[in-house]
Amino acid sequence: MRSETVLIAAASLLGSCGAAKPDPKTLPLPPMGFNNWARFMTDINETIFVDAAAAMTTNGLQAAGYNRLNLDDAWSLTKRNDTGSMAWDPAKFPKGLIWLTEHLKSLGFIPGIYSDAGTLSCAALYPGTIDHERQDLHDFYAWGFEYLKLDGCNVDNFPEVYGFWLDLLAKFNKDKGKKRVVFSNSSPAYYADPKDLRGWYSIMMQAAAGGQLARHSYDIITYSNNPGWNSVMSNYGFNIRTTRFQQPGFFNDPDFLIADHPGLTLDEKRSQMALWSSFSAPLIISANIPTLTKEELEFLTNKNLIAVNQDKLVQQASLVSREHNWDVLSKSLANGDRLLTILNKGNSTGDITVPWARIGISPADSDKLGVRDLWTGNATTSKGSSGGITAKNVPSHGTAVFRISGGKLKTVPTGIILNTQTMHCLTDSASGAATWAACDGSDGQTWSITKSGSVSSILNPKSCLTNNNGSVSTSKGSCGSSTFTFPVSGNIVDNASGFCVTENTDGTTSATWCGDVETNQVFGVPVGVEIDYS
Ligand SMILES: *[C@@H]1O[C@H](CO)[C@@H](O)[C@H](O)[C@H]1NC(C)=O
Ligand SMILES: *[C@@H]1O[C@H](CO)[C@@H](O)[C@H](O)[C@H]1NC(C)=O
Ligand SMILES: *[C@@H]1O[C@H](CO)[C@@H](O)[C@H](O)[C@H]1NC(C)=O
Ligand SMILES: *[C@@H]1O[C@H](CO)[C@@H](O)[C@H](O)[C@H]1NC(C)=O
Ligand SMILES: *[C@@H]1O[C@H](CO)[C@@H](O)[C@H](O)[C@H]1NC(C)=O
Ligand SMILES: *[C@@H]1O[C@H](CO)[C@@H](O)[C@H](O)[C@H]1NC(C)=O
Repeated sequence: MRSETVLIAAASLLGSCGAAKPDPKTLPLPPMGFNNWARFMTDINETIFVDAAAAMTTNGLQAAGYNRLNLDDAWSLTKRNDTGSMAWDPAKFPKGLIWLTEHLKSLGFIPGIYSDAGTLSCAALYPGTIDHERQDLHDFYAWGFEYLKLDGCNVDNFPEVYGFWLDLLAKFNKDKGKKRVVFSNSSPAYYADPKDLRGWYSIMMQAAAGGQLARHSYDIITYSNNPGWNSVMSNYGFNIRTTRFQQPGFFNDPDFLIADHPGLTLDEKRSQMALWSSFSAPLIISANIPTLTKEELEFLTNKNLIAVNQDKLVQQASLVSREHNWDVLSKSLANGDRLLTILNKGNSTGDITVPWARIGISPADSDKLGVRDLWTGNATTSKGSSGGITAKNVPSHGTAVFRISGGKLKTVPTGIILNTQTMHCLTDSASGAATWAACDGSDGQTWSITKSGSVSSILNPKSCLTNNNGSVSTSKGSCGSSTFTFPVSGNIVDNASGFCVTENTDGTTSATWCGDVETNQVFGVPVGVEIDYS
């Protein structure tokens, strides 16, 4: 594991990665379970896992779907054995890892293990897999593990080393029926440099083209009395930049649910659960499972949120608006429902009303809608209100979550178009100027994108984004004729010219030659927009 940014020249990666769809059969839904790291760090041992498993079978976690138990760093001896295999530390695992995996499986859990792609693991003492990849994979699987988190400390060439692993696992899993090895790829975390994200964009494309999970940003804060909210928000802040990569079989991983962290309030812990569920992110708890409180177990086992997390579409909720105190996110669910998630980033309790159009629902539908508050499970009073949904008394750092259903709800992918480097929002104006500005939650920053690729803001719904000889604005009459495509690179490509939408330094928008994940040409678009993975 790691805690600091490692700066790596983006240039070493550029142009190195193609993209493809992962095989959804290996991991159709986001994983749920336990990992020891953020709670116990290198104090790993058999008891932690035996006790966690026993507690999970009785405290409702296993019944709620948490079925994986994953070991993290420091489980091995510091030396490989005489035939080159890693060996577990018998002081920490007196009965051995084969006994442990059989025990966990007998209780209905799936065991997972950790290693590192480099010369030494992040705890520095323990061997990494470099030059032993086949042997280690074979051993882990023979010991009973079906999930491998592969960290990236002490790695020289990330694209090469992780590319090797992606190929190796694809071949390995081919004849393994249902008992495959899930691959959690930590390489993007080593490129998560907010000052220059080009390397991160490229390595995320590589991760998304093969494995099942991308551990894409810094480690979540470990157990301590230090405040934890900034850490949760930092990983949240990276996850909102990764929407385009997620699809059935591949999940962006903003790291563990730290449900018993002393530096988080109950509202903050509940927010993490609500946000991670809205993202269909992995729900891997790193806490002392046997001593979780009633309140902590209550939010971790919230059936409504878990249903959203495990929804078959596994869409990752994306931002429909962002302003100083509020982030509003939405996504669609497999039965046609729409999710609305509202995060109060501010320092005091507040109310907010989200108009229907903001979440891609046309006002004509709103009379027929049912709205359920997923925390209480109750229908809310906003039902049928023509204005939208009002979230009342959302506590500071709290998150409100609503599920909207209606007979034949028709939604259009709607939300902000975000430069994920500058964090500027594409902003429409009454005159149709499309410029880049700080996100402010206005109608000119909420865009709907049709199936054919027309892009219009809810400020000027009859005008569409258009490339006029290199200069991009919105104009009436261009809807239908001016269309864009959305490759997994994050570019927005004008269909007619093949040019890419570009944020200029003066805040204007142009259409220019497409570079290779240039920071003025990579954008987050609303979830539900068809992404081209070819
Ligand atoms: C296992 O680790 C836990 C957490 O660090 C510790 O409390 C416990 O004493 C350890 N058990 C053994 C048998 O070492
Ligand atoms: C080394 O470990 C592997 C995997 O556990 C085992 O199969 C092998 O027999 C061990 N070799 C020696 C020399 O102990
Ligand atoms: C909340 O208060 C802290 C400390 O005064 C401040 O740093 C932070 O910016 C405030 N948050 C918001 C969203 O205003
Ligand atoms: C949910 O609705 C029921 C029935 O109307 C009510 O008794 C209960 O207090 C409500 N729960 C909350 C948390 O609002
Ligand atoms: C893009 O343009 C081509 C011709 O210029 C057209 O055949 C194709 O249907 C267009 N695609 C979209 C999504 O509009
Ligand atoms: C398009 O732009 C180029 C250069 O910016 C200019 O030379 C040309 O006259 C423009 N064409 C039209 C039709 O406006």
